[in-house]
Amino acid sequence: MKEIYTARNIQYDISPLIAERWSPRAFTGEKIKQEALLPILEAARLAPSNGNSQPWRFIYAHRETDEWDLLFELLVPSNQEWVKNASVLFLILSRRIDDQGRDTGNQSFDTGAAWGFMTLEASRRNTPLHGMAGFDYERAKAKFQLGDNYKVEAMAALGVCGNIENLSEKLRAREKPNSRKSIDEISIEAKQASQWLACDS
Ligand SMILES: Cc1cc2nc3c(=O)[nH]c(=O)nc-3n(C[C@H](O)[C@H](O)[C@H](O)COP(=O)(O)O)c2cc1C
Repeated sequence: MKEIYTARNIQYDISPLIAERWSPRAFTGEKIKQEALLPILEAARLAPSNGNSQPWRFIYAHRETDEWDLLFELLVPSNQEWVKNASVLFLILSRRIDDQGRDTGNQSFDTGAAWGFMTLEASRRNTPLHGMAGFDYERAKAKFQLGDNYKVEAMAALGVCGNIENLSEKLRAREKPNSRKSIDEISIEAKQASQWLACDS
């Protein structure tokens, strides 16, 4: 059995697409073709959203472009350390008012779903995605002159899986699937919810 099933104590028969996804940092530093990126964005566009408003927006740059530098500079040094070997960088936004003029209130929730879909397709293609909050949100807003209709949600790096030896010792030690809370820790039948929530506060 693959290490990830043990690390995450996966007990039920779920799709390997979900069970085997994780976020590595060891990338090769290769460029990828635009055709290799488009199926990953295709996966994002198929996510569900409130009223089909599709509020997710992705600004991306391939490595060795000026725009890559622009996105790369937003990252904190601890992320730059491994992202330097990634292939594509993303700035992930959500749009507040949709095409029908509605503010659903679910823009972040929906964009998270699109992000999840992307990660699965990216992982399936051996070009995994790694999400990041370690960057300067305000500078991102300013660089792209984002008005109030956009919320900066996250950044992500996509790369070709590479040699773990390329990572610092500290990152090498973390380069494996991490653990997860149990089903009981994240869910409860409604009749027991108040007691459970009281313990959780
Ligand atoms: C919104 C978001 C922000 C994250 N920020 C960072 C980050 O700044 N740097 C980093 O190395 N990993 C970051 N991660 C990766 C998480 O630590 C990782 O997804 C989590 O530990 C679960 O591991 P897995 O993705 O391998 O299943 C982030 C992930 C998400 C979804």
